[in-house]
Amino acid sequence: MKAYRSSLLYFSPSADPQASAVLEDDGLLVVGPNAQGRQVVLALGPYRELQPRFADVAVTHWPGRIIAPGFVDLHSHYPQTNVIGSPAEGLLPWLENYTFPEEKRFVSPEYSAQAATFFVAELLRHGVTTALTFATSHSASANALFQEAQQQQMRLITGLCLMDRHAPAELLNQRVNPATDATEQSLIDSENLLQRWHGVDRLGYAITPRFAPTSTDAQLRGAGELAARYPDVWIQSHVAENKAEIAWARELFPASRSYLATYADFGLMRQRAIYAHCIHFDDEDRALMRSTGAAAAVSPTSNLFLGSGFFDYTGADRAGFDYGLASDVGGGTSFSPFHTMLAAYYVGREGQSKTGLSLSPQQLWWQHTVGAAKALGLDGVVGNLQPGCEADFVVLNPQATPLLARKTALVNSLDELLFAMIVLGDERVIEKTVISQAL
Ligand code: GUN
Ligand code: ZN
Repeated sequence: MKAYRSSLLYFSPSADPQASAVLEDDGLLVVGPNAQGRQVVLALGPYRELQPRFADVAVTHWPGRIIAPGFVDLHSHYPQTNVIGSPAEGLLPWLENYTFPEEKRFVSPEYSAQAATFFVAELLRHGVTTALTFATSHSASANALFQEAQQQQMRLITGLCLMDRHAPAELLNQRVNPATDATEQSLIDSENLLQRWHGVDRLGYAITPRFAPTSTDAQLRGAGELAARYPDVWIQSHVAENKAEIAWARELFPASRSYLATYADFGLMRQRAIYAHCIHFDDEDRALMRSTGAAAAVSPTSNLFLGSGFFDYTGADRAGFDYGLASDVGGGTSFSPFHTMLAAYYVGREGQSKTGLSLSPQQLWWQHTVGAAKALGLDGVVGNLQPGCEADFVVLNPQATPLLARKTALVNSLDELLFAMIVLGDERVIEKTVISQAL
């Protein structure tokens, strides 16, 4: 058992996300092993109340700091770390000119391994302790990332990118013998990776069709069948990000009611299915998200950078589907949850293409912790510091820069404190990232 004394930020599980954040000024967080031998939160609360119960537990004291749940990044591409900041007219030319050429390099296990090491280190440096991320269409890339995350004991979900058409030949899923076609092989490779890694330590597998335009009907159908056979694996893809992409998807799958409905028609919408972007939806799409239990990965730095559009929070809440925040590195411009939360605030505000609103700092923070965990079906497991949650947390320094120190000295409420960190913060605020250990 271990105990940490500091301010504590956590979310009350039953309260409205707009107002569910709690700050315990002088708190104690007690962690110890659960039945599986994994370090979890055993208790948290005011120091003076809890300390007598745990009087014989050694306490690490971090005065002036805040312990908060590790951030959950609901969508990114680990092979696109080097693609960040590549300008393009929009999504499709960006994929062709920058993203696909970089992803080709992941055919090499060595290239994949060094990229995986850098990516995981960068997540942790920015306070991200759980991530759902794309690999490339090469098994080597998925294996390299699983190995690195396992080494760091990080909770990470990834999968082989499925693409059997409309991409450069080197990125299409490959056949290995003349008797099996590339589409069949991609599904066999996915299942092999799933069986090797899903549920091992803290790793999870995601069935990963890149987006409908780069898969044939057969590949999407096979992915849906795989999902039906493994109901607790994740599914990840992209949808309704960009107008040209949508027009292309509609041409390729005219029988479906909408681009989103294409995924439902192939059995790819259910709980644990995470769709990045979900911008250009109508109310029937929103109702489909809700009725299937699929969730949206809102990726605001990417949407602003690529000029894709603005996620409609009011529309999502009206329909009642789940969503959480995501960096979408490398369409996204930053690994920092602070930058992502600030961009989400800008996206929420935009009021020309949809209803504009002012998201509260608590709601923004919730979306990158509890909300993202809930979208993954992992609420109560990660993203919060309730008893039983895995002990993944960050230690925040609200005085990390001269401007933050000046600003946070003036705040009068929890919302003002959180907003100061969202607007002015970056990885300098993350003094430590602590990952739950297997004991
Ligand atoms: N749609 C299909 N592939 C991608 C990708 O790599 N990034 C983004 N932002 N959208 C996509
Ligand atoms: Zn993406």
